[in-house]
Amino acid sequence: MESIVRVSGLTKTYTRQDGSVVQAVRGIDLDIYRGEVFSLLGPNGAGKSTTISMISGLIPPTAGDAEIGGHSITREPLQAKALIGVVPQEVALYPMLSARRNLDFFGRMYGLSGAELSKRIDEVLDVIDLKDRQNDKVETFSGGMKRRVNIGVGLLHRPQLIYMDEPTVGVDPQSRRRILDTVLRLRGEYGMTVLYTTHLMEEAQELSDRVAIIDNGAIIALGTLMELMSQAGEEDILVLTVAKERANDSIVGVLQAVEGVSRAQIEPSDTDNGEVKYAVYARLGRRALPGVLTAMNAAGVDVMSVNVREPDLETLFLALTGRALRE
Ligand SMILES: Nc1ncnc2c1ncn2[C@@H]1O[C@H](COP(=O)(O)OP(=O)(O)OP(=O)(O)O)[C@@H](O)[C@H]1O
Ligand SMILES: [Mg+2]
Repeated sequence: MESIVRVSGLTKTYTRQDGSVVQAVRGIDLDIYRGEVFSLLGPNGAGKSTTISMISGLIPPTAGDAEIGGHSITREPLQAKALIGVVPQEVALYPMLSARRNLDFFGRMYGLSGAELSKRIDEVLDVIDLKDRQNDKVETFSGGMKRRVNIGVGLLHRPQLIYMDEPTVGVDPQSRRRILDTVLRLRGEYGMTVLYTTHLMEEAQELSDRVAIIDNGAIIALGTLMELMSQAGEEDILVLTVAKERANDSIVGVLQAVEGVSRAQIEPSDTDNGEVKYAVYARLGRRALPGVLTAMNAAGVDVMSVNVREPDLETLFLALTGRALRE
């Protein structure tokens, strides 16, 4: 596998105005292979945007470096940047200008002009599927359409690699679907490499060839979806909800004694809503369920609801950090 991006020891320490220090990124190492969709999955404040800003040459690393197509982003920024398109987390467009005029403006900033620029704008409008609205002002666009124009800007100079920083935040489900389809097309039809950041495990799961899970400035897991899933465990999790006044110390023991159950624990929770959730791990969750309910019944504990959760990236994040990925 040929790497198009090689990140080593990448570190960013911010010093706030009051003198306090934030270790936003703590020595990240990773490779992105040519032609893959690579996702950086992590909660708010994990360090996704800071990482993207460093590997696109927008902010200098405190330590470490990234090579893009063999060019150091710190020592050979021009060569490195020529290979990258960046779609920032915050949409940056001129609302009073049409989609086409926005693309034209940013294209000129890349040094494009004339017939060549016009051709590229047509290409990009095709990719982002906004040909029919190209002459309308961006201020009349939905959040999802603005996002798509933002993606278009990142594609104008025909980069080999595109970074997209949480491009589906705040858009309606239909627009989200179109953005995800665009990502898949960029890889499939145009052979591009995509670095995609998200805090939504469903997106990472659907889009990615490989995923790095980032938390608190560090990568805590990295691999193909298959690799991460197997790290998440091969067991299903039955989540039992019990009224708080019915919860007691002996329940975990009762659950662990059921045949087919390997272990049980109280689910960590930040909110007190009068309920306690128990996570029951079993290789064949649905098969263990009747025994679990019988045991709870015999112990005199009413179960309010049961969910069967198959292992996914969320399970892995919980197992690695003790916290839920979504806030
Ligand atoms: N310019 C800055 N000065 C000080 N601290 C910063 C600065 N930029 C980011 N941080 C801090 O660095 C950490 C990582 O932030 P970053 O924006 O990279 O996270 P993120 O994963 O992109 O989060 P989100 O999902 O909210 O976009 C956070 O604690 C953030 O508050
Ligand atoms: Mg961010």
